[in-house]
Amino acid sequence: MGLGVELGRRIYFDYAATTSLREGARRALVEALDIYGNASSVHAEGQRARALLDDARRTVAGCLGVRAERVVFTSGGTEANNLALRGMVEGFRVSGSQALRKKVLVSAVEHDCVLDTGKVLGAEVIPVDGNGVVDLAWLQERLGKGDVGLVSVMLANNETGVIQPVREVAGLAKMHGALVHCDAVQAVGHVDVDVDGLGVDMLALTGHKFGGPKGAGALVVKPEVKMVAQITGGAQERNRRGGTENIAAIAGMAAALAEAIEGMDAEAARARAIGAELRNGIRDSGFGVRIEEVAAGVEKVPHVLQLRTPGKKGEDVVIAMDMRGVAVSQGSACSSGRVQSSHVLRAMGFDDTAAGEGLRLSWGWGSTVAEAEVVLAALRGVL
Ligand SMILES: Cc1ncc(COP(=O)(O)O)c(C=O)c1O
Repeated sequence: MGLGVELGRRIYFDYAATTSLREGARRALVEALDIYGNASSVHAEGQRARALLDDARRTVAGCLGVRAERVVFTSGGTEANNLALRGMVEGFRVSGSQALRKKVLVSAVEHDCVLDTGKVLGAEVIPVDGNGVVDLAWLQERLGKGDVGLVSVMLANNETGVIQPVREVAGLAKMHGALVHCDAVQAVGHVDVDVDGLGVDMLALTGHKFGGPKGAGALVVKPEVKMVAQITGGAQERNRRGGTENIAAIAGMAAALAEAIEGMDAEAARARAIGAELRNGIRDSGFGVRIEEVAAGVEKVPHVLQLRTPGKKGEDVVIAMDMRGVAVSQGSACSSGRVQSSHVLRAMGFDDTAAGEGLRLSWGWGSTVAEAEVVLAALRGVL
């Protein structure tokens, strides 16, 4: 092929769905599998597990610039987001302090684990503009009614990569006495995330989006926030999440995050080079359809590119690319398999047909510019 990529090797450009395991994460995970004690036990075996857990907590906290006590380990992003929303709303109820301010607002482009949880809690939806950026004027007006207790806006969108003005959202919410949760699952490990700088009260992350294993995530919570545990029956995580901790996955996640943060400048530069290669290639002719970048021109994370392939269903393109050895996706992993158009694109104003013509390319710590060339060649073949 002459592209510096081994002939016949599959190419994985679906890092926003999940990533392969970083070497450091694999080592930490495997080593921790032999630390079999229960971190809540008082004996030496238990204390070894406790030491590993404490160490992982310090590492994750250090990477995010917060104190270790603020990190609540969970089974991943879905649980962290559920804990944030449900835990807060229940917190309002039991404390009574925010009894009149119970309304929850979630943005229209949130991941389903926030949107669906919001629906259960009777949340109102914050609209977005044509680029998928939250409507701050709408938010300000809505907050003005004085009944909002919690606002949930993600940092980076999982389908488009668009970065939300979370700092501004938090500023408005604070002015009106509301708390803020941020789903930062697609941003942590890829861009600098300064929890306190963002001004949020809670922030969710998950290990498998930055080279850690599946099944470990965290919610970072401000100490003064009164959040009620949603998994009860154990005093683990300072009574904020019951259940014996999955220390191997947690140790793997911490190692992955440390590696991601340490290599962030170099990785982000490579990710931007890959993005530039893909964007240049797409601008060139050679495609049977005119490919468009979704939300071109607004700030995005460096590793996600959402395209529209007018006249071609995203799911058909994904299957055809897979047959050519390239793994890409239509949008969120959770909605592939279910044949439905993207709620993110629909919220941005695309009609149902257009919202079904999305194709997401996403790359990561193991990707190369040479691979991007192969992805383009495959796309030319398919389109
Ligand atoms: C933005 C966002 N939030 C939450 C999640 C859920 O994370 P997890 O798979 O760890 O439950 C994902 C995963 O796709 C995501 O992209």
